[in-house]
Amino acid sequence: MSVKKIAVLTSGGDAPGMNAAIRAVVRTCAYHGLEVMGVYRGYQGMIEGDFKEMSARSVRDIINKGGTILKSARSKDFRTPEGRAIAYKNLTAAGADALVVIGGDGSFTGALAFNKEYNFPVIGIPGTIDNDIYGTDYTLGYDTALNTVIDAIDKIRDTASSHNRLFFIEVMGRDAGHIALNSGIGAGAEEILIPEENIGLPKLLKSLEKSRNSGKTSSLVVVAEGDNIGKNVFELKEYVEEHHPDYDVRVSVLGHMQRGGSPSCFDRVLASRMGVKAVESLIEGKTNCMVGIRNTKMELTPLEKAIKGTSKINMELLRVAEIMAT
Ligand code: F6P
Repeated sequence: MSVKKIAVLTSGGDAPGMNAAIRAVVRTCAYHGLEVMGVYRGYQGMIEGDFKEMSARSVRDIINKGGTILKSARSKDFRTPEGRAIAYKNLTAAGADALVVIGGDGSFTGALAFNKEYNFPVIGIPGTIDNDIYGTDYTLGYDTALNTVIDAIDKIRDTASSHNRLFFIEVMGRDAGHIALNSGIGAGAEEILIPEENIGLPKLLKSLEKSRNSGKTSSLVVVAEGDNIGKNVFELKEYVEEHHPDYDVRVSVLGHMQRGGSPSCFDRVLASRMGVKAVESLIEGKTNCMVGIRNTKMELTPLEKAIKGTSKINMELLRVAEIMAT
């Protein structure tokens, strides 16, 4: 059966580039003569029938905007078969016969369950600042978030250096250290704490001492929110002050500002490529796959693999970070 009308939604944590991806999906549909409708507030909007017909012109002026014009939500109801049944009824009543889901692995789990129950064609586009999805070298929003973080840490460096202070800077990344590791190298951190590697508290102290003994008067430590050293950034401050009362320590939690802002050119191009690939894959009869970029090429990965697999940290970067902190 050929696809006639595609529904598109954004789900989970928003990420810069989601609007560019919505635009790409809508315009690719228009290009191929397909109808397209937007679903507001992710799966919750599917359950509530919150839809909007879209056209090439309804996505004007959004390529440069952060957030998502379709809004996003984490729907509890869609995790139940009853919720998905209502969603299916609404979607088919509106004439949609395929779905593009822009989100993270939680969103893909929902898409897969929906497909299994109703044989409804679904394609995923990885949108999350965490870059923690298997099957793609980059997720939408990651590059922009990195640049936002670097910008913030550069500013913290100015004040850290003026006051000879040690800063613990917490960045996002509940399960993955990509943001912390890359921004840490990019911003010149003395130490980087990530979920994938527990360096332990003694090594952290040693490394701070080494840095001070080498003549450095201020230090930046970038900490992923999901790191597993066993203490949060505020406890780390207390711990260091206990052992080194002479250290002047401050904490900065960057928080949700990392998710906002205008997408970088990289994210806009990536979103455009992913949107085209998603729609054209549905036209070719593909389903249950996620669009990704690998070695600069667009590739499809089965949703099941994308959900179960883990995106690995580049171990070489850990070494580079250590050498750069000399
Ligand atoms: O998954 C993206 C992310 O920004 C994580 O890094 C963070 O832990 C989480 O979302 C925060 O989610 P919420 O906005 O629902 O608090």
